[in-house]
Amino acid sequence: MTQPDSPAPAATAAPADDRPYSPGLEGVLAGETALGRVDGANGRLIYRGYRIGDLVERGSYAAVANLLWTGEWDPRHRLPTGPIPGRVIDVLRALPTSAKPMDALRTAVSAWGATQDLLWPPTVEQARALTSFSPSALAAFVRIREGKAPIEPDPSLGLVEGFLYQLTGQPADPGTSRALDAYFIVGAEHGFNASTFTARVITSTRSDIASAVAGAIGTMKGPLHGGAPSEVVDQLAQVGSVEHAEQWLREALDRGERLMGFGHRVYRAYDPRAAALRKVAEAMEHRPDWLELAIAVEDVALRILAEKHPDRALKTNVEYYAAPVLQGVGLSPDLFPATFSLARHAGWTAHVLEQAADNRLIRPDVRYIGPAERDLPVG
Ligand code: COA
Repeated sequence: MTQPDSPAPAATAAPADDRPYSPGLEGVLAGETALGRVDGANGRLIYRGYRIGDLVERGSYAAVANLLWTGEWDPRHRLPTGPIPGRVIDVLRALPTSAKPMDALRTAVSAWGATQDLLWPPTVEQARALTSFSPSALAAFVRIREGKAPIEPDPSLGLVEGFLYQLTGQPADPGTSRALDAYFIVGAEHGFNASTFTARVITSTRSDIASAVAGAIGTMKGPLHGGAPSEVVDQLAQVGSVEHAEQWLREALDRGERLMGFGHRVYRAYDPRAAALRKVAEAMEHRPDWLELAIAVEDVALRILAEKHPDRALKTNVEYYAAPVLQGVGLSPDLFPATFSLARHAGWTAHVLEQAADNRLIRPDVRYIGPAERDLPVG
């Protein structure tokens, strides 16, 4: 054993670590799932084998969430919004009214977790309770910041109808509910995206489902993940007209900016979620008047991106057509990321269940690129 006053052993240079490393873990297989398959090369997305386009046309968010949690397809499955514990309302009231809705939602989920007895392993009941709580919490925050009282959930309404009712105090018309429900289906699950990976890492430590979802919301808050649809609206407002599109887009790219709603880490083909939402947007009764502009600008953007990046296919992603759907159902752009998070609850919580069912602590390795071992300076 080395004595405290004996000289330290001579530092030996660590052998070079030449194991493969992929920045951003791009292309790395980091797990297995039976929940969803994102086929980026062919632009296809399935949930437990079912095509996303079919689920949007014939399913509901409640049925899709239940499918993800249990593997069973029950088109009659119901999922109303859930109650908000009084202490969570107190926490929401304590937030500044200027708080970002994503911060409020993340805080609400964390506070909800503190009011529950969330035992390990996580259960379908926990997943259902959290997924139905969060829309009520987001709606309550919106009302509190407007100086209004939160509205109690109506158990006779579905999750999306209930969310819209608790936001506005008015029953939503069926077309509006249906459009937002389609958006929720499309947003429910998407493989090992950054927020889902976060939820799985947290679960792998045997932490609880509320911690996993609070962490996932924090991850989704970043504009590269969940912040794009509101920026799509801003970008289209700046473009202004189809005639101006070519010049505006080229100048933005020359400034090194990214076109919001384009590009994806996995998809090299047209994002099938964008295709499904474009149909929903075009069929909406109250579609925003800039939808026609969005469709025309998309063509110009795709042409310029193909010209500038001939080696990396940059296509339209889900956020581009999420923007007109969310605006068309009457949500303000600052609510877009949090609404996306509500939709993704089904997928996050299904991944929590899947991780827990066959758990191994997720703890990858890192290549050290700092200075070689050395002595502290004397004095
Ligand atoms: N507009 C312009 N250029 C883009 C672009 C976009 N939307 N997305 C990627 N690129 C360019 C990058 O600048 C990069 O160019 P370079 O090689 O000359 O530096 C190249 O394409 C590869 O980009 P990279 O950052 O490696 O791609 P990624 O896989 O890390 O990025 C996104 C994926 C989604 C983060 C990225 O496409 C993006 O920022 N899109 C805009 C934001 C958005 O719509 N997010 C919602 C995603 S669902």
